[in-house]
Amino acid sequence: MGSASLIEKAHAVCVPFPAQGHMNPMLKVAKLLHSHGFHITFVLTEFNHRRLVLSSGQEAVKGLSDFQFQTIPDGLPFSEEDATQDIPTLCDSTSMNCLPHFRRLLAELNEESINNNSRPPVSCIVSDGAMSFTLDVARELGIPEVLFWTTSACGYLAYNYYRHLIDRGLIPLKDIGNVSDGFLDAKVDWIPGLMKDMRLKDFPTFIRTVDANDIMLNFVVQEMSQASQASAIILNTFEDLEQSAIIALEKILPPIYSIGPLTLLNRNEISNESPTATITASLWKKDDFYLEWLNSHHDPCSIVYVNFGSITVMTNEQLLEFAWGLANSGYHFLWVIRPDLVKGESSVLPLEFIEETKERGLMVSWCAQEEVLMHPTVSVFLTHSGWNSTIESISFGVPMICWPFFAEQQTNCRYSCVEWGVGLEIDNNVKRKEVEELIREMMTGEQKGKEIRNKAMEWKESAIKAIDPDGASQINLERMINEVLRN
Ligand code: UDX
Repeated sequence: MGSASLIEKAHAVCVPFPAQGHMNPMLKVAKLLHSHGFHITFVLTEFNHRRLVLSSGQEAVKGLSDFQFQTIPDGLPFSEEDATQDIPTLCDSTSMNCLPHFRRLLAELNEESINNNSRPPVSCIVSDGAMSFTLDVARELGIPEVLFWTTSACGYLAYNYYRHLIDRGLIPLKDIGNVSDGFLDAKVDWIPGLMKDMRLKDFPTFIRTVDANDIMLNFVVQEMSQASQASAIILNTFEDLEQSAIIALEKILPPIYSIGPLTLLNRNEISNESPTATITASLWKKDDFYLEWLNSHHDPCSIVYVNFGSITVMTNEQLLEFAWGLANSGYHFLWVIRPDLVKGESSVLPLEFIEETKERGLMVSWCAQEEVLMHPTVSVFLTHSGWNSTIESISFGVPMICWPFFAEQQTNCRYSCVEWGVGLEIDNNVKRKEVEELIREMMTGEQKGKEIRNKAMEWKESAIKAIDPDGASQINLERMINEVLRN
């Protein structure tokens, strides 16, 4: 390509927060921009770059001539421990340490562009909403920056009201007993755009602190106020699903573009032949044989899929309750048990359980989740209600049994179960009997279960409509590119 056209080409620098649930959707946005003619620089932390090489091989981060990976340090001392699992430490460290490294990286990219015409100068930044230090660099360079909030719109709206909860004296909690004494059951029905059945306990969990200096409480408040400086905000949701929350966000923030579900938009636009098709951001190595195992089943909607995402940890007792609930339900199941799923030890499942379920259960340590959710044999998703998992499940019409762990998973769970009608919640104090009963209800229940299964199919149709050529999310993507990133 001649130098004139290189200079004219838009160059987006994409900066995910360094955790799996943020890297996956940002990579999807980066691929979409690439397919719209952008040169892409995808910024990883050094730690995650190393992990990607270990989990997916050097090929995964090799990139293309116009889709490159670059790294910055996350500011944490080098350790073999998995830093991506400690979210407060990561939030603290990235917000305190990354700015000078990011500024230097962009200066180097621009210098290289002038010196040897190998890439166009940086023309815009797309950054995770939790990496708002990047806004300083966009301002210094005089280029637009879009913040990508990888949460649901309702979760993001709830985060935006932390400041108000503090001003009303509701948080920080007066004492930690508040978590168990019913205080969190209080209705919060005064926030425009949030469902009226919202309780304090449905807010993102960082409110559950008695410490006014709590890292996450302060981080959330700070990042929410930073968002006003962005040129625009993008969300991985669709208008039909979260209309009220989106409208409410539009009233208090820069322009909002809802461009989800990204899983469907990507499937539509990035074909297997596309040069970016093989680029992945998976921090765990996926097992091989689960797709074969799924393919060996012939009854549609006959398998329970269980996966608690990338950060959830549980005790071995909780693991056992899930295990026996699954076993006692009598259904076939695919269960992803991350090597670090069980707190402080490796998971131990009793021999009796393995024996009893060997004909109908498969346990693996990581999978390509979207491939699983779209498999015709998968009927129910037992999930931690992470937003990516939730929107992926909605996209493929799979109803959910929800066991939220932290962050805005509680909000996603409440919406899934009450507002969207696609889920049933498991008590935090999980018991095998409840797991068994909820699986049965979801698989064959003739009333509640049937209603939920039907609702899941309706939302799937609605999600597919959003990414049609004239669907709202497709149009929003084009508008965001033309009105903000290329402007
Ligand atoms: C969490 C929160 O749930 C999320 O809402 C928040 O914004 C970020 O932190 P996480 O635990 O990673 O994220 O869950 P989720 O949001 O569901 O993201 C997990 C991603 O990893 C999904 O895209 C899922 O498809 C993928 N995944 C997970 C796999 O590909 N294979 C697996 O085995 C497990």
